[in-house]
Amino acid sequence: AVDIKTLRAASGIVTIDPGYKNTGSCESAITFLDGEKGILRYRGYSIEDLAEKADFLEVCYLLIFGELPNKEQLETFHHDIKEEAQVDEEMKKILDAFPKAAHPMGVLSSLTSALVAFNPVSVDVSSETAMYNSIVRILAKFPVLVAWTQRKKKGLPLNYGDDTLGYVENFHKMMFKKPSKEYEKDQIAIDAIDKLLILHADHEQNCSTSTVRIVGSSHAGLFASLSAGISALWGPLHGGANQAVLEMLEAIQADGGDTKKYMAKAKDKNDPFRLMGFGHRVYKNFDPRARIIKTAADEVLGNLGIEDPILEIAKGLEKEALQDDYFVKRKLYPNVDFYSGIIYRALGIPTEMFTVMFALGRLPGWIAQWREMRLRGEPIGRPRQIYIGETHRPFVDLGKR
Ligand code: ACO
Repeated sequence: AVDIKTLRAASGIVTIDPGYKNTGSCESAITFLDGEKGILRYRGYSIEDLAEKADFLEVCYLLIFGELPNKEQLETFHHDIKEEAQVDEEMKKILDAFPKAAHPMGVLSSLTSALVAFNPVSVDVSSETAMYNSIVRILAKFPVLVAWTQRKKKGLPLNYGDDTLGYVENFHKMMFKKPSKEYEKDQIAIDAIDKLLILHADHEQNCSTSTVRIVGSSHAGLFASLSAGISALWGPLHGGANQAVLEMLEAIQADGGDTKKYMAKAKDKNDPFRLMGFGHRVYKNFDPRARIIKTAADEVLGNLGIEDPILEIAKGLEKEALQDDYFVKRKLYPNVDFYSGIIYRALGIPTEMFTVMFALGRLPGWIAQWREMRLRGEPIGRPRQIYIGETHRPFVDLGKR
């Protein structure tokens, strides 16, 4: 039985739905998700096909504009992005002001917000062209900001991009080129990053995407809306789970690899511990992205010749959970974040950067959803409430309280 609280308001009946578990906030033509059957499609194309056959830039175009680009459209899109790749030098002063220990997600959301000051026209949505200009601008500059946060975290000098390279290859260069050495192209790493970005690119009305849409619905600009989305993604119940998963796996390893002990903790209702990377608000059968990532983790580690005991711990946990009544009954399966951190770690990305990588992947989804919301002329997002506080009280003077 579901306890539904309601309120009569001028606009109709208001129902309380904590966490919006059963509330649709919009109509959307971007991403289809069937949580029971484990289906995920971007603009009608299956995530399995896209992860295998498309590259991230094509997926960006598809999500934002609704169709897979032909060769010419893709070239123009990439050209327009490359034209905007410069980030104002003054932005480096802001980066410099952060302590090295700052969490990269805080740095990224601040830098994204700060971009508005250097690109004031980015708030112009008066025409499709103006929106397009903001979109290519952020697609160009965001990977630079992501690379900056990684270099900052590692205490390394910043790398410039190279407009002769592909979108993800250029990002890889900015992230990994060693000081005073030529850039070494690493196709295994580039392909792995490309695939992970595609898998994270959109997921309909999740917490960060809803945040982007609701902030954008006040007609705040694209960059400000994205900055809010980054903050929403940061939390461990959402994008921050990839960092939390790896920290959990490391803790299990340091504790002797006793997975059963942690399974018991996760089931103990008096213990706040949850098995990070398990469970999903919508997927109640399996997360199709997790399947693809699990295979990719095996491939990438194999190709790089890395044997990571943490991967074995992860597989052990998954096996136990799939046979455990508690997890089976609640339909808790590994989600997209359960294996992604293992790949990031193998690529030399610091744990605190994992959610930043997720943000880079989710960027086209946030943009597509923001654009759809603006083009549909959606009203400002403004949920109602049912008031449960005090009724009218007489004011008490300060001296009498
Ligand atoms: N470990 C142990 N128990 C769990 C877990 C878990 N990871 N997830 C859910 N449960 C239990 C809950 O305690 C609850 O049990 P109860 O019915 O006995 O009270 C039941 O399963 C339902 O859980 P809810 O929290 O109500 O489910 P909800 O849909 O609100 O939450 C969420 C989904 C936030 C993903 C949750 O499963 C969770 O916290 N997972 C761990 C964090 C995580 O991996 N987040 C990443 C999500 S994917 C993404 O954002 C990219």
